Amino acid sequence: MNQVDYLRISLIDRCNFRCQYCMPEGSELEYILKQDLLTNEELVSLLQEVFIPVGFTRFRLTGGEPLLRPGVTQLVRAIASLPQTQDLSMTTNGFLLANLAEPLYQAGLHRINISLDSLNAATFDDIVGSRGRSLWSQVWAGIQAAFRVGFDPLKLNVVVIPGVNEQEILDLAALTIARRWHVRFIEFMPIGNSNLFGDRGWVPSAELREQISEKFGLVAATVRGNGPADIFQIPGAQGTLGFISQMSECFCDRCNRVRLSADGWLRPCLLNETGQIDLKTLLRNGVEVGEIRKQVQQLLEMKPEINFKLRDSGTTGSYRRTMSQIGG
Ligand code: GTP
Ligand code: 5AD
Ligand code: SF4
Repeated sequence: MNQVDYLRISLIDRCNFRCQYCMPEGSELEYILKQDLLTNEELVSLLQEVFIPVGFTRFRLTGGEPLLRPGVTQLVRAIASLPQTQDLSMTTNGFLLANLAEPLYQAGLHRINISLDSLNAATFDDIVGSRGRSLWSQVWAGIQAAFRVGFDPLKLNVVVIPGVNEQEILDLAALTIARRWHVRFIEFMPIGNSNLFGDRGWVPSAELREQISEKFGLVAATVRGNGPADIFQIPGAQGTLGFISQMSECFCDRCNRVRLSADGWLRPCLLNETGQIDLKTLLRNGVEVGEIRKQVQQLLEMKPEINFKLRDSGTTGSYRRTMSQIGG
């Protein structure tokens, strides 16, 4: 069994995009109230007093859109400067990155994953719900800025939607040939507010690999990532191609992560919240850190059981929380 040492921390449940597969225009979300968000101080103290002592060393900041969180750069600096932090990363939609890439890098962020579902501005704007704004070029500028300041690896996430961006797979894969970028194709998951799943279904990674292999050739990469992606490479390419195949394959046996929501709920699995703990309430009620640690440890002990037996219970939409609230 894998060691669970990777915490995904959602900083905020709000987002400036309305991706069709996540929180489409018109979806009714109840946002977390400001007073219910863990503060920077509470977060850092939870890491120092609870998560690091039970063995966590890798942290990923997610959202909603994490760059909407006030004080995000200061928080990055605080987490990066904890001596036990071995890896600090972020998943963002990239919209605010053109200006923030440099300060985030200087603050000590190590790695960044950016969503880029299309190279076509009109298709992209349609997927992310642009409300008439032109968002693609701003995101592209953000990606360029992140690359320029030195984020390496730089990963681009593509959620594959049948009939929408499926025909761009080869163009997106080709981005990795001359650039040290890592493009990952993600099987669309039926979680969140989207009813897209019912309409369109999802594309198995194996089909994408076949298409890419026919055009460019494809070899399994020698490196193993630290997440769910299976990694391949176009022969001779600078970057790699990842396939995140939670629908067609189960990668639970190598799961190394748990998730903390912006209002302080610790959940054992993206796809199941059994045994989740309300850390914010424990913290604010002055519960002793030793007791909080004990509860977290119990959740970690339960996790393998949840990964294998309960992971998919409720896949049809009975989740209490959506992707933007859990942080993906
Ligand atoms: P690194 O490997 O650390 O770079 O991160 P990552 O690929 O896990 O993170 P990212 O936030 O970029 O997530 C990419 C996709 O993988 C998203 O669609 C996530 O929801 C999905 N994903 C990440 N972790 C899990 C997991 O534990 N289970 C499932 N089913 N999907 C996951
Ligand atoms: N299925 C698969 N991936 C999703 N993401 C958001 N919603 C879904 C979904 N329903 C992806 C985003 C982002 C990451 C955090 O999760 O594109 O890259
Ligand atoms: Fe926002 Fe990310 Fe959800 Fe898109 S996938 S709406 S960018 S939280």
